[in-house]
Amino acid sequence: MYLANPARYDRMSYRRCGASGLDLPLISLGLWQNFGRTTALETQREIILAAFDAGVTHIDLANNYGPPPGAAETMFGALLETDLAPYRDELVISTKAGYLMWPGPYGEWGSRKYLRNSLDASLRRLRSDHVDIFYSHRLDPSTPLHETMGALKYAVDSGKAIYAGISSYPAEQTTEALDIAAGMGLDLLIHQPSYSMLNRWVEQGEPSLLDVLGERRMGAIVFSPLAQGLLTGKYLDGVPEDSRAARDGSFKKSFITPEVVERLRALATIAEGRGQTLAQMAIAWTLRDERVTSALIGASSVSQLHDSLGALDNLSFTDEELAEIDRHAVDADINIWKARSR
Ligand SMILES: NC(=O)c1ccc[n+]([C@@H]2O[C@H](COP(=O)([O-])OP(=O)(O)OC[C@H]3O[C@@H](n4cnc5c(N)ncnc54)[C@H](OP(=O)(O)O)[C@@H]3O)[C@@H](O)[C@H]2O)c1
Repeated sequence: MYLANPARYDRMSYRRCGASGLDLPLISLGLWQNFGRTTALETQREIILAAFDAGVTHIDLANNYGPPPGAAETMFGALLETDLAPYRDELVISTKAGYLMWPGPYGEWGSRKYLRNSLDASLRRLRSDHVDIFYSHRLDPSTPLHETMGALKYAVDSGKAIYAGISSYPAEQTTEALDIAAGMGLDLLIHQPSYSMLNRWVEQGEPSLLDVLGERRMGAIVFSPLAQGLLTGKYLDGVPEDSRAARDGSFKKSFITPEVVERLRALATIAEGRGQTLAQMAIAWTLRDERVTSALIGASSVSQLHDSLGALDNLSFTDEELAEIDRHAVDADINIWKARSR
């Protein structure tokens, strides 16, 4: 029987999520890849329990995580009924709807029908009567935002979600969504955008997404802070066989250009000077801005998770370090989520 580490809250720090009453761990774990049928169940279980043992109280899911879609929720639902059953109230569990989940006109995007049906299906897979956060996974420009926000409000009012959030919405539509939701009496808790040293779109524009989130006091949980693994030491000398890039799915091998590798080497040298791995510095860097509530990482092994959690040991940067990082931390055209809103 699993017994959680009694010292699980000793090392992790927690940040308040915007103007809400909810704290999130500085590092959260997502189950996008590696938590489906292609990974041994015992490995999945070990990673999740190791995370909880280290104070990672937030686990992020979506209807389509796996593979195949739904598998991550099904696996996690089983864990909630067994190992994690005594600890459910110590956990913040999120899920989302927005990407393709079933065939036909009602299986993706942002309609009230899709969001309601998808949340119900997620709860069945999770064997739960509620999640803590339910997200609109991506902006649907062909559905009135009023309808999508109405579906989020329904999720909260019905008790099927405690909070609501949006993911990958640009700054302008985030403002619009916040206004529409507020008009309905719904406080949007959190935004989930991609962000890393090689993908800095949230800082760009007037106002930038981060400006909007700061001004409106909305929480921010930034995903893929390791750029899907690119911001680790693993691609400095080619593509390891067991890596995400080798699978050439969401992480295209074409991301690894000689220019990018050169930047990675420079960043790895800065990390070394700070006594960190490149992965640890990449995670700490996303957290340097207090508007970022949590860095949402992935892991395919317990040792990767532990390496990433080591970021907590050095979270501060000197101005000189930040300036030096800025010389190499430039957009590498790896934001695959930008193109996925129609
Ligand atoms: N809202 C959205 O649209 C959206 C989109 C994407 C992700 N997300 C969320 O964000 C979470 C994290 O995304 P992500 O998995 O792309 O994040 P990430 O942390 O940038 O990348 C994780 C991957 O990098 C590699 N890795 C992790 N730690 C490592 C280490 N210490 N050393 C070497 N390699 C390491 C592993 O891949 P390999 O070992 O397989 O190479 C791991 O699966 C997802 O699970 C999901 O919850 C949300």
